[in-house]
Amino acid sequence: MVCLGNICRSPLAEGIMQHLADEQHLDWQIDSAGTGNWHVGQGPDRRSTRVARERGVDISKQVCRQFNVSDFDEFDHILVMDKNNLADVLALAPNVQAKQKVKLLLGDKEVPDPYFDDKLFEPVFDLVENGCKEFIKHII
Ligand code: 4NP
Repeated sequence: MVCLGNICRSPLAEGIMQHLADEQHLDWQIDSAGTGNWHVGQGPDRRSTRVARERGVDISKQVCRQFNVSDFDEFDHILVMDKNNLADVLALAPNVQAKQKVKLLLGDKEVPDPYFDDKLFEPVFDLVENGCKEFIKHII
């Protein structure tokens, strides 16, 4: 799960996907990262932590990291939140196989960046949750 800062959207995506995978007894390795490095080592944004907690998902122990080329080897699917993330991650892909792993979580739609708009955290949770449910349905 990849966004720009790895403190708002992708931590929610990691937490929600893990929660849903656990519910369905899917033994998946799920992680998140940011294309940017400003917040590396920090926990998620408090607004994301709060909205997740209110919906029964604990993301408080996640630690921000930057997306790395080795992630193309480590993971089968790389789900990004918006088209900027898509372009940034694709630019790092070493080959066609790596490029094929990268998809927008919402298909052709974007998860908006809530960083500068407190009101977006709630709708972002819903969008990400729907995207994760659709992804699981698609895979299984
Ligand atoms: P995210 O949100 O990509 O959903 O984690 C952002 C967090 C921080 C910044 C931008 C977006 N930033 O510019 O620091």
